[in-house]
This record gives sequence, C-alpha cells and structure tokens, in this order.
Amino acid sequence: MKHDHHKSRFHDHQHAVEFDQRAAKSEIRVQLGEKLVEALNLSGAECVLDLATGTGRFAHPVSRHLESGRIVGLDEALAMLRVGQEQTEPIRSYFQAAGNAEQIPFKSDVFDRAFVCFSLHHFGAPLLVAKEILRVLKLGGIFAVVDPILKEARDTVDEALNERVNQVFRRTHGENFRFQTGTSIRDLLSEAGFRIARFDLPTFAFDQEGMEGIPTGRHWLEAAEGLADGPPELAERFGQNYLRWEKKGQTVRVFGSFPYALICGEKPG
Ligand SMILES: C[S@@+](CC[C@H](N)C(=O)[O-])C[C@H]1O[C@@H](n2cnc3c(N)ncnc32)[C@H](O)[C@@H]1O
Repeated sequence: MKHDHHKSRFHDHQHAVEFDQRAAKSEIRVQLGEKLVEALNLSGAECVLDLATGTGRFAHPVSRHLESGRIVGLDEALAMLRVGQEQTEPIRSYFQAAGNAEQIPFKSDVFDRAFVCFSLHHFGAPLLVAKEILRVLKLGGIFAVVDPILKEARDTVDEALNERVNQVFRRTHGENFRFQTGTSIRDLLSEAGFRIARFDLPTFAFDQEGMEGIPTGRHWLEAAEGLADGPPELAERFGQNYLRWEKKGQTVRVFGSFPYALICGEKPG
C-alpha cells in the first residue's frame, strides 16, 4: 500500500542542520534518551532498528550500550542521514539505510529491538508502520515508541483543543501530521499485534524565556498565539493543559508542561 506522501521539510539540508542543532540542545530529549535505553534492556549483543533515525540523536545513547551488537538507522530523508554522518562524534556500530518506514527494506525476524522517536506523529499510516516493525522483529523482540503526545480528552473542549493543535502543526508539517495520546499509541501497538510491555507517560514541566530546548516548541507557541483570537474557553484550556505565555518586550516567558509517551510492545512468542 502506498500513501500520499508530500516531501517533508526533513529533505532540505538546511532544515536538517537546524533540526539537529535544536535537538542537541534539548535536555528533555536527553532525559527521554536515558529512559529509552533503560526500556530497551540491552545486553550489548542486540541488533537494533532505529526507525526514522533522522540525524541519529537517539541512536547515539543507545549505541553506547552495544558491545558486539549494532544499530541500523532507517530514514527516508537523505538530508537528515547526511547530517547524521557529519556528526563530530561518530555513532558507534551505526549503519544508515534509506527507505520508507511503511515498507521496511529488511527481512522478517531479524531485529532484537526497534524504536521510533519523535516520528510516529509524522507517519501517514502509523498502523502499517507498527505492523512492519512487528514483522522485522524476532519473537520476544521489543519495540519502543517515544513521542510527544496530547493529553487524553476529558470533554468536548479538550477534543476541540487537541484538534486545533493538530491543525496548527499540519500547516507546517503537512496533512499526515497527527499527535497521538497515550492510549491511542497503546491501542495502535495492540492492534498491530504487540503485547504491551510498558506504558509510561512522563511529563516535563518548564518555566523559561523562549521555547529553546522544548521539542517542537516554536509551533506550540504559534498554536498558543493563534488561540488568543479564538473562543476564550479553548485558550484557557490550552493554558491549563499545555502552556501559558507572557510577552515581555522582545522575549516571551513560557510556563507549563508537556506529556510524552514511552510505550513498549513485545512481539509475542
Ligand atoms: C522529527 S524527526 C526525528 C528524527 C529522530 N528520530 C530524532 O528524534 O532525532 C522525524 C524523522 O522521521 C522521518 N520520517 C518521516 N516519515 C517517514 C517515513 N515514512 N519513512 C521513513 N522516515 C520517515 C523524517 O525524515 C525525519 O527524519
């Protein structure tokens, strides 16, 4: 099955460089990387797939825990792979491959572990991707998803708000973009055939000037600013659920918290 797939901004070299620089400065991503390593429970001999590896920012911490094992980073954007190759500190035992997550170019039952970081929300057909991961994993293999998520909707205001946030992100990231919630990721993995092995939703609080270090931060601020002209209950709920902001001259103070998913599935044996 082929999905309509416009060329994302990740195919642009300059965008890839800027993405990588922002990613390198994010303490939230570093902490999620540590949680990912722990969740993968590595002995050091595993063959690991980093799907939608980008510039390899999550492959890096994982590779430090491999001895005889190796890590394969797959991505469809050559620009991201190239920036990954240009890292000043090369990633150990890391092999890059170009390809689409919806048709993983590897044989079945070959990987011990697989992970997808900060990318599930970009896939046009996430269920298809999850089924492909199930196919390439060995029996008992673990798949970890790390992704920013929306809070579960408790009422119609939350539902409208979550839809609005996705709309803002689609303007810059294309029609495929969709933030999930913790339960929608869990259900997706179950539907693909995984046994849910871990369900963590860590939240990171912040109170700072500007959005640096907060993954996808700039677009969250755009969403916040756009809501200021809409129905007041949406703007108020956005503040309660995600972030509040105050302009101070040229700078913006932002404070709030964002939830993330660290959800693992095991390929049943
Ligand atoms: C936000 S980046 C995350 C990269 C990396 N995992 C990280 O967290 O640093 C999203 C990546 O997903 C890749 N991507 C999106 N859709 C894809 C698909 N269908 N197949 C392969 N890669 C895809 C993009 O090219 C991009 O490199």
